[in-house]
Amino acid sequence: MAETLQKAEGSKQEQYETLLPQIASLIEAETDEVANMANVAAAIMETFRFWWVGFYRVKEKQLVLSPFQGPLACTRIGYGKGVCGTAWKEGRTIIVPDVETFPGHIACSSASRSEIVIPLFRQGEVFAVLDIDSEYLNTFDETDAHYLECIGKLLSRE
Ligand code: SME
Repeated sequence: MAETLQKAEGSKQEQYETLLPQIASLIEAETDEVANMANVAAAIMETFRFWWVGFYRVKEKQLVLSPFQGPLACTRIGYGKGVCGTAWKEGRTIIVPDVETFPGHIACSSASRSEIVIPLFRQGEVFAVLDIDSEYLNTFDETDAHYLECIGKLLSRE
């Protein structure tokens, strides 16, 4: 397919509904995971203009910075550390309405005010997380969690 994104107007749900099939076709024919993560981060960023959108992959018992869009970020996060390491350890999506209230939040950027982290599973194990930061409070809700988890499943191909 041509690598151009059809941008949707309307509610967040409508935007995700437009984005999802495009991501599916974008990554369908490509087997390289890093290439797919790179395009997924770009597609989410192009649609929503969040502050930071990116992936950390599990490597050597840490989360290691992987394709992202946005400012520079911390390269390694330990198991159970920060929002990302907690999502990995607990194997669940974490929505943080205000990063200052999350104990142990890792501030890669002082501009980040709220965050969502989605673990990506393969054969029951977390192999990566999708992390999105917003410069506004209370950006993410169950709608984001639902659609971002769908995107995670597309990437894990399960
Ligand atoms: N805030 C994250 C660290 C990654 S950056 O936001 C890109 C955390 O607490 O795990």
